[in-house]
Amino acid sequence: MRIGYVQFSPVLAEPEANRRAVERLVALGSGAHLLVLPELCNSGYNFATRESALAAAEPFADSPFLRLLADLSRRHGVYLVGGFCEREGDRLYNTAALVGPEGPIGRYRKTHLFWNEKDLFQPGDLGFPVYDLDLGLLSRPGAKGRCRVGLLICFDWQFPEVWRILALRGVQIACHPSNLVLPGKAQRAVPLHAMLNRMFVVTTNRTGREGNLSFTGCSIIVSPEGEVLSQGGAAEDEVRTVEVDPAQANNKAVTPRNDLLADRRPELYTDLIRSPEELWRENR
Ligand code: ACM
Repeated sequence: MRIGYVQFSPVLAEPEANRRAVERLVALGSGAHLLVLPELCNSGYNFATRESALAAAEPFADSPFLRLLADLSRRHGVYLVGGFCEREGDRLYNTAALVGPEGPIGRYRKTHLFWNEKDLFQPGDLGFPVYDLDLGLLSRPGAKGRCRVGLLICFDWQFPEVWRILALRGVQIACHPSNLVLPGKAQRAVPLHAMLNRMFVVTTNRTGREGNLSFTGCSIIVSPEGEVLSQGGAAEDEVRTVEVDPAQANNKAVTPRNDLLADRRPELYTDLIRSPEELWRENR
């Protein structure tokens, strides 16, 4: 199957302009079965106030942005993952939606909020859903096979636990819409997450500037061996796709006698659910 990224520079609080950009760019990736768009790409990122973010947010069940993605999915025969500013009542979430030809399939709400996002959004409350995609449902001659995808968003890259959870849930392709601002760091860490969990990763990072934030582009597609299969430029709109075999992610063997998942010793990892303060006191 072909997977890819759609890297661009969404405009703050301009949902119609952002939808036009998405429509134009997704057409350039036709041939792909799965395309990943950046974080918050319906709305832009750097909202000065919660009110302005609310004004640009859309409910999951009634979202012009997600309706466009469903339409593009039907037109181009592609599953789409896109970050969007989600409103539920008066709550806001930094959400990534997975959309297919029949409409939205599911969503992930960002677990680890970055910097001023903490003033705008609720932390994610839906855990780490994973989805089996049937490529045969795409309007694309000859498309067949299945793949299992999981979703993470941007700053989640700093937390190895969440990548491991996706691997334990059988994810073959992690889709990672991003608005990265720390140059080069995630692009170094993500190939290690891919290698240590033996999964493909598509990190789609936006470009451009909003106020005091510069976004760093350089989207990547990484193999389960940690090889970067494609890397975007730092500043340009770019759509790149690569051919992959999702089944490659099923092989967790390290040696004939070692398996990345089966060799784990979770009974010894219980410190992971205790607080650093408690552990520090106990081990002083
Ligand atoms: C980020 O999480 N958008 C840096």
